[in-house]
Amino acid sequence: MKITADQLRNLYLEFFKSKGHAVISGASLIPENDPTVLFTTAGMHPLVPYLMGKMPHPAGTRLTDVQKCVRTGDIDEVGDSAHLTFFEMLGNWSLNDYFKKEAIGWSFEFLTTKLGFSPDQLSVTVFKGEEGIPADEEAAAIWKSLGIPDERIYRLPREDNWWGPAGETGPCGPDTEMFIDTGKPACGPDCRPGCHCGKFIEIWNDVFMQFNKTAEGKFEPLGRHNVDTGMGVERTICMMNGLDTVYDTDVFAPIMAKIKELSGKASFETPEDVRSSRVVADHMRTATFILGDQKGGVTPGNVGANYVLRRLIRSAVRHARRLGIAPGFTEKMAATIVDEYKHVYPELEANRERVFQELLAEETRFGKTLDEGKREFDKTVAGIRRKNEFMGAKDPAYVPETQISGKQAFRLYDTYGYPLEMTQELAREIGFTVDVAGYQECFKAHQKLSRANVGSAKSGLAEHSEETTALHTATHLLHKALKIVLGDHCNQKGSNITAERLRLDFTHGEKMTPEQIRKVEDIVNEQIKADLPVYRDMMTLDEARAAGATALFSNKYTDEKLSVYTMGRTREDFFSKEVCTGPHVEHTGVLGHFKIKKEESSSAGVRRIKAVLEK
Ligand code: SER
Repeated sequence: MKITADQLRNLYLEFFKSKGHAVISGASLIPENDPTVLFTTAGMHPLVPYLMGKMPHPAGTRLTDVQKCVRTGDIDEVGDSAHLTFFEMLGNWSLNDYFKKEAIGWSFEFLTTKLGFSPDQLSVTVFKGEEGIPADEEAAAIWKSLGIPDERIYRLPREDNWWGPAGETGPCGPDTEMFIDTGKPACGPDCRPGCHCGKFIEIWNDVFMQFNKTAEGKFEPLGRHNVDTGMGVERTICMMNGLDTVYDTDVFAPIMAKIKELSGKASFETPEDVRSSRVVADHMRTATFILGDQKGGVTPGNVGANYVLRRLIRSAVRHARRLGIAPGFTEKMAATIVDEYKHVYPELEANRERVFQELLAEETRFGKTLDEGKREFDKTVAGIRRKNEFMGAKDPAYVPETQISGKQAFRLYDTYGYPLEMTQELAREIGFTVDVAGYQECFKAHQKLSRANVGSAKSGLAEHSEETTALHTATHLLHKALKIVLGDHCNQKGSNITAERLRLDFTHGEKMTPEQIRKVEDIVNEQIKADLPVYRDMMTLDEARAAGATALFSNKYTDEKLSVYTMGRTREDFFSKEVCTGPHVEHTGVLGHFKIKKEESSSAGVRRIKAVLEK
């Protein structure tokens, strides 16, 4: 059945309305209730308090909506045919109202009568049970009663058939997942729903939220029977229209067309170009939705959600350059995206100017860094060519050099923020290669040595002034001091630094007492007096965590090396260690006197501190 995203959203909401559900608005992409994640990752996420039974939902006990979601766990996969960092999720919920029989029955009815799938195309999975939690034979029996034969009901363990919680704690439970058999041949005897070969595609997930995961990691009965379901819009229209990739669906059509127009290409032929065009499409869409969010407040920055946004924009800029797209493109892409989605998400239109400004500012900042790097690259190549000419004139047997040394490639990375892959691309274009092994050696050597002179080094963020750099270091000290005084739950939710002051948003439920404020100030000032050295080291996120660093994004973001800043007597005996792109001062002693000017509420469960450094 051919269908557009608009039609699918309407069909879904209308169907559940006809089953007594209230159609509610989707929530902000910036979670209100869950400090343990950076973005809303599922439709159930904004409903957690109601699923927990903390309060009744004003719209009743049967709800349905379309929810904007961002998931960055698979960001490295973006560019293939299916992975996205932003997607829309259709969902229906029972807040202690109906349970498995109705949920599964309606899923079956919607798939077969509204979306036109044949029951023969449907395979399902159910939770097989484990010690302490019984198998979900009830769900299996319901599927059987609907005509799904036992051989297409797969009983799978927790890693496949358990969902949630969305963050670290909260409602969760066994699920039943529905898969459409595409008719492609099985990849082997073990091919089954959940296999990634492309034969089975998951279309819907019904979660039976009967449990609550506690902070201690225990699953306790929730005392309520909730249903939480989720269906991805992009994936479903892709499948229904028989397309090979989500980028061919109607939601991406204007976006892909714009990328072609801006690059001056009628189509993308090489796998690299195809990948780049998809990265630009995905990342620009996600960045536009984050910046255009109704709650807002996330701008490109160095930590947490701000950092994710910066990475998305910068990666889009790099890939756009690869495609030959001229600077200033982020605003044009965003205009296309806002126009396309504003009838569903009016907040995009309302925040149009803000989206454009932030994108342009970040694109310009990053563009400068890239240009400097390109000039440096050209200089290196010119040097090699001069040498080749000179040697060739002296000795006809001389073999010209066509390799960028590891040291040069590393310098481009370290000083100009040029990823190795980009240096390789530039080299390839002129018939040069890069000494990758040499680059990696430099990387390791740097890691060992790196008492980095960050203050003067041009990192990717060279525009930082002395004042903002000092306030940035103070933010790290404050973050740690809050954890000491108020508890480990104080996680940074946002940071904004001007030349005059720092602003830190962090998760904490209550107003701080004057005494707590004084204690935090004292701790920070003690660390300033101790004049701790600031170390910078490069490592992967896993290595950073193992070293005890605070990493403010909950998902493994990339395999790339990240910089970790340590403020301490030594790297091991430290006060604060955080994953952060910097820059920071070299010694805490230069910060001056730290003073908290204001402590106020930022949003539910989040406090905001404004603080200054007095000379
Ligand atoms: N929360 C479940 C999911 O994300 C169902 O909506 O799949």
